[in-house]
Amino acid sequence: MTLLTVWDETDETTPVLQTRDAALIGDTLSPLGVRFSRWELKELSATPTQDEVLAAYRTEIDAVNAAQGYTLVDVVSIAPSDDPAYAELAATARQKFLSEHQHDDDEDRFFARGSGVFYLRVEGKVYAVFCEAGDVISVPENTTHWFDMGTRPEYVSVRFFHDDDGWVGNFTGSDIATKFATYDELAAVPA
Ligand SMILES: [Fe+2]
Repeated sequence: MTLLTVWDETDETTPVLQTRDAALIGDTLSPLGVRFSRWELKELSATPTQDEVLAAYRTEIDAVNAAQGYTLVDVVSIAPSDDPAYAELAATARQKFLSEHQHDDDEDRFFARGSGVFYLRVEGKVYAVFCEAGDVISVPENTTHWFDMGTRPEYVSVRFFHDDDGWVGNFTGSDIATKFATYDELAAVPA
């Protein structure tokens, strides 16, 4: 189940809100310009190709593209394995967007499988959205945020873009991301 945790940015020890209520999550994120919704999950093979994922969710993806004007869609995925190459890939992938940054474009994601945490810092608060399979979330352009996929990442995720270069990360240089509960810690919160 999706988990939203909200803190004051100056106090990472005590959340001001923590909920798994989808309606409350949507209502809390909506004023930030964040679109949050859920899609019904479709059957996918064990290691789905990009074309398979895009075909399975064609109707939903077309609707998002029509509503938001996206012109590019792709699928990124990582699957846990005991292969040492996975450990290296996982660490590199996790580190890439673990520091606070923003983009000139919206960052929309659908999780077809697995999970990940988007942390948004807006007006003195930090909003951590622990997304699970079925979740669709948008981080508005220029919103400072970071993303944690955890130490054993697993996801199949659809990404939406307006153009080729809108999704370059502009890093803020803040170390705020190191202070708040990680993916692994939030994954351990009782259901
Ligand atoms: Fe980002």
